[in-house]
Parts: sequence; C-alpha cells; structure tokens
Amino acid sequence: MSKNYKRTLVTTALPYANGPVHIGHLAGVYIPADEYVRYLRLKGEDVVMIGGSDEHGVPITIKAREEGVTPQDIVDRYHKIIKDSMEELGISFDVYSRTTSEIHSRTASEFFRRLYDKGVFELHTSEQLYDEQAGEFLADRYVMGTCPRCGSDRAYGDQCEACGSSLNATDLINPHSRLTSAPVSLRSTSHWYLPLNNYEEALRKWILEGHKEWRPNVYGQCKSWLDLSLQPRAVSRDLNWGVPVPVEGAEGKVLYVWFDAPIGYISNTKEILPDTWEKYWKDPESRIINFIGKDNIVFHCIVFPAMLMAYGDGFQLPDNVPSNEFLNLEGDKISTSRNWAVWLHEYLRDFPGKQDVLRYVLTANAPETRDNDFTWAEFQARNNNELVAILGNFVNRAMVLTHKYFGGKVPAQGELLDIDRALIADVQAAAKAESENLDLFHFREGVRCAMDIARLGNKYLQETEPWKLAKTDMGRVATVLNVSLQLCANLSIAFEPFLPFSSAKLRTMLGLDKVEWQMLGRFDIVKADSELAQPELLFEKISDEAIEAQQQRLARIKEENKIKNFHAEPQAPDVDFDTFAKSDLRVGTVIECERVPKADKLLRFLIDDGLERRTIVSGIAKHYDPATLVGKQVCFIANLPPRKLRGILSQGMILSAENADGSLALITPMAPVVPGAQIK
Ligand code: 2FM
Ligand code: ZN
Repeated sequence: MSKNYKRTLVTTALPYANGPVHIGHLAGVYIPADEYVRYLRLKGEDVVMIGGSDEHGVPITIKAREEGVTPQDIVDRYHKIIKDSMEELGISFDVYSRTTSEIHSRTASEFFRRLYDKGVFELHTSEQLYDEQAGEFLADRYVMGTCPRCGSDRAYGDQCEACGSSLNATDLINPHSRLTSAPVSLRSTSHWYLPLNNYEEALRKWILEGHKEWRPNVYGQCKSWLDLSLQPRAVSRDLNWGVPVPVEGAEGKVLYVWFDAPIGYISNTKEILPDTWEKYWKDPESRIINFIGKDNIVFHCIVFPAMLMAYGDGFQLPDNVPSNEFLNLEGDKISTSRNWAVWLHEYLRDFPGKQDVLRYVLTANAPETRDNDFTWAEFQARNNNELVAILGNFVNRAMVLTHKYFGGKVPAQGELLDIDRALIADVQAAAKAESENLDLFHFREGVRCAMDIARLGNKYLQETEPWKLAKTDMGRVATVLNVSLQLCANLSIAFEPFLPFSSAKLRTMLGLDKVEWQMLGRFDIVKADSELAQPELLFEKISDEAIEAQQQRLARIKEENKIKNFHAEPQAPDVDFDTFAKSDLRVGTVIECERVPKADKLLRFLIDDGLERRTIVSGIAKHYDPATLVGKQVCFIANLPPRKLRGILSQGMILSAENADGSLALITPMAPVVPGAQIK
C-alpha cells in the first residue's frame, strides 16, 4: 500500500553512457519522472530528483575498443551529451551525476564490503569463455559465432540479432573472440553470488502482498520471477572496467554493472545532500519512487531490494516502481545499434525552442499500459491540432481580446451567470481528475485532463461570443474576459508539469509570479487592473517540410541498415554442367524500350539478338527510365518458352541483380560485343 509520507526521493534509471538518449528513454522514464517531480514541487512537497549516467558495463568497453579510445573517453563524451540535452529539455534533476565518480566508487565498494563481511555472498566457481591470445575472460557480448537457431555467422554470445534468439555464449557454433578473432576456450573462474533465494519469502510478502497497487505490468513481472523461484546471481565479473571488487585476491574482478548502478542512486543522493541524504533513504516517513523502463523491472523490484535487505541499516525499499512499456518508432523497435531512434540532442537541434512539443507528444502517447508507436505524422498532428489549435488558440484569443477591448488591462469580474459558474465547475472537475491521475502516475490521462481545461475555454468563448457582446454590454465582456484570463492562469498551472517552458511564458504574459498547485480551480488568480504583457504565440504550426525531412532521414537509415545487414543467399544446390549448358545466355542491343501501359513495374524491350528482333517484357520499370536504355546492351536468357505478360508475348528474360535495398541493376558486358554474342 502507498503510505503517508513527508518527503519523496524520485530516482530515474541511470542511462548507459554509450550513446545519447532517445525518445524511448524519454517517454519511458525521464519525462514522466520530471512531470511527477514538478507536480510535487508545485504542491510544495519536499522532493529530490536523482539522475546520472551508468558508466560501467561491457557495451561501453566494446565501443571503446571499436573506436580505439578508452572507456573513460566514451563515457565522458556521452555523459556530457546526455546531461546537456536532458537539461535543455527541462528534465529538472536535482543532481545528474555519474557512476565513475569517486563518491560512487567509494559507496559501491563499501556496500559490497559490508555484505561480504556479513557473510551474505556465496563464492562459486564456473567455466567461462576465455581468450588465450588476449589473456582475458570474455563477457558473452565479446564472443561471436554461428547461431545454432538460424545459422547466421554473426551471432553474439548473448543474442543473435539476425533471428532475435537469446543465447548463451556456450551455445554458439565456432565461438571466437571479438577482441582477437581467436577461437575461445573455457577456463574456470570464481565469483561472488548474491543468494536471491534467501530473500524470496521477504520479497514475496513485500511485493505480492504489500504492493498490489503497483502497475499490473510491474506486479505481473515480479510475480512471474518469484513463481519461478529465485537463484543466486553473480555480482562480480572478470573485466577491467568497473568498480574493483574490494576484497583481497580479487585482482582483475569488478562489481557487476547491475550491482553498482542502483547503488548510484544512493551515491548521487549523498553527492547532492551530504548531510541529509540518509533521511531520504532511511526515515520511514520518506518515500522512494523508482522510474524505470520495463527491461529494468527485475533489477529494481527483486535484485536491488534484496541487496538493500541484505545491507540492512534502515535502508527502505521503494514505495513504487512506475515502469513504462516500450515506445517504438514508425512501427519498428527503437535500436541504438541500428540508429533507429530519434535522438534527443538531434531533436533539439532540428526543432529549437520546441522542447514542450516533444514533452507533450511523448506524454499524450506514453507507453504506460502497452507498447506504443511514435510517428512523425502524429507528432505533427498533435502539435498542430492540439497544442496550436486548442491550447495556443484559446490563450491567444483571451489575450488578444483583452488587449483589444481593455488595452491589455485585466478587467474586473462582474456578476457571474450560470454559464460562468458551469465553466468554473467543469474546470474544477478536470483539475481534480488531473490531480488524481498524477497521484497514480497516469500521466497520459493527466495531460488529457489539462487539455480538457483548454477545450472548455474554447467552448466558453464560442458560446459567450464577447466580440458580439462588445456592441451592447461591455460589463459582460469584462466578466467573460476576466473568467477567460483566470482560465489561462489555471492552464499555466495545470500544464506546468508537462509543458514547463510554455507555462512559464504564459505566466509572464499574465503577469503572474509564483503559482502553486493548490490554486488550480480558483478564478481569482489574475488580479483586476493588472497589466498583461504583449500576447505571444505559445505554439506554432509544424510544416510538412519539417516532418518530411525527419521521415526521409529515417528512410535513409532503413536503407543503410538493409545494406549493412545484407546476407547473401546461401548457395543453391549443385547442378550438373550439362543441365547448366542447356541455358542459352546472350547479349543483345536494346532497340526500343517503353513502359507497359497500366503495369507500373513492366518495361517492354525490343532487342536486336543478332538473328532477329525479339520482344522481352521485364519487371524493372521502377529502376530505370526506358529512354535511357535504348542503345544499351543487356544480357538475357534466350531459350525460355515464350509467355504472355499483360497481353504481350515475352521471348526470354533479361538478367539483373538485386541489391540489398531491393533495387535492380541490369547486367551488361564491360565492353561492347556483337548482338547475339553468347555468354560463356
Ligand atoms: O538499462 C539501462 O539503461 C541501465 N543502465 C539502467 C540502470 S538503472 C539503475 F540501476 F541505475
Ligand atoms: Zn539466429
């Protein structure tokens, strides 16, 4: 059950510093966490938001080797990109630190050492893959070989990217090292294991009985893990990048990245609050909320809590672990290695000043209950049809009308009529619904409630028609515009967690200084006679060209990936020479070439084949302009039985080769030959 609390510690999954962050990270973790924190701050609560880069782990060492630089160079580069871009997006961390910091290494070491001294760990010896040439143990990712499932010869030790199977490095056929390409051998090595099984009962009680209110995806995943029974897990690795295992005789071993990363939440709290950090972690009146993506559930709900239980000393377990599902991009899974992503730093470059648009779209379409898809078309539609046409439009009308009729001075509110009172009640109901949704981490619904307030505003202006009233009853116009400006003030509060930049701009236009959540639903926020600033547009339409440029970028990446991942077809079964020799392959010269009417793929060729002129119909119209082919030489199979295509008798088949992207290239001799020359 959720509890009464005095303060909240919000943590956000630490992104790996081996690449920039993309919209999947933002929608899954950082935007909802920031919205929640902004909401609590606006309510005046004591809240701290913790973030940082996860700078250990094998993928970082692989990237460093590929680029011929050190792992530290890699994490320095990406930590800066991530930190700067999140700040620009308005993710309001109280601290954004890194797991290569000194305080982290000390904290993680001390954590391990305490568990070690308490005798929590078990030491187990197992066989691991080893690269004799490099003299190093190999993490699964460092081993490559042939996939036992699909035969791809580029499968990694943990996964085959060709068929998507999860693998163990020892399953691979012909496993070899990615470091040296040498074949790998097995060697025994010892590691410390956290016996999760010893915490199973306590975890069951804590989650399955105590936290039924968690999101169904989180609760369900925990239940499946617990129902399968927990096993001891290794918490150290043979690697030279990470926090060294602080035990004698552990040279060459570091803490497993998933052991040290969650401790990063503690280190980073210490860094920002050196004197009071313990209060946030250990006082029973504090509450810890971990925002994560769904691939992190087991580590945050099972492994890290077991570590904290083992540590003791008053550390509290998280109160909630709001985890989102995945966001896809234009129908495909987001992938850093395939560059299939919208990168935050590139978005900020391509759409300057439009932080709130991305925040809005990723919230309105958040993958809270199921995987969702981001498309550029929807991004444009939500901006143009919602931010511009509903929210921006209402604010602009209220501001412009006040300038027009009252010279920009807030008019006084006269007697309220039923229509005004109904509006106020509707706004209050929407505001209440928004709060309830935010309390439950339902941000998608929450932002919809905020947009409903703007919808109510547009409807109100439409129904009251102050531009008509202005001819007869300026007193009534004053009331309608006062109410409309109060509604604008409500919008600046209701949208503050979601659209902090636009909400601040709106407050400046209204001459409002500080607002708090408790003011939401009030209609006396803007003071009569105060001056409004000049109206400015909160949002502007996004053009088709801007969207097309993004769509084209993705199309280019798709083509590049097809070429990168091209696998030649396996060789066909042998044919005997006599069978092959029966094919009559020749070169001919194109005399005529034109499109076949009503068939967008077909071209009709008239070929000089040295004996006569023959017609061949070929399916390459998408790849060639027929006019450019006249006079060229092509290769064809001469002795296929003629067949009719679209009513035209085709006497043979023109040879072409298919590229990775599906494009076709005609085969032609390197030097001119006589028409009818045989291909031997
Ligand atoms: O999945 C990830 O990107 C991990 N780097 C998340 C770590 S969360 C926490 F434990 F720090
Ligand atoms: Zn495979």
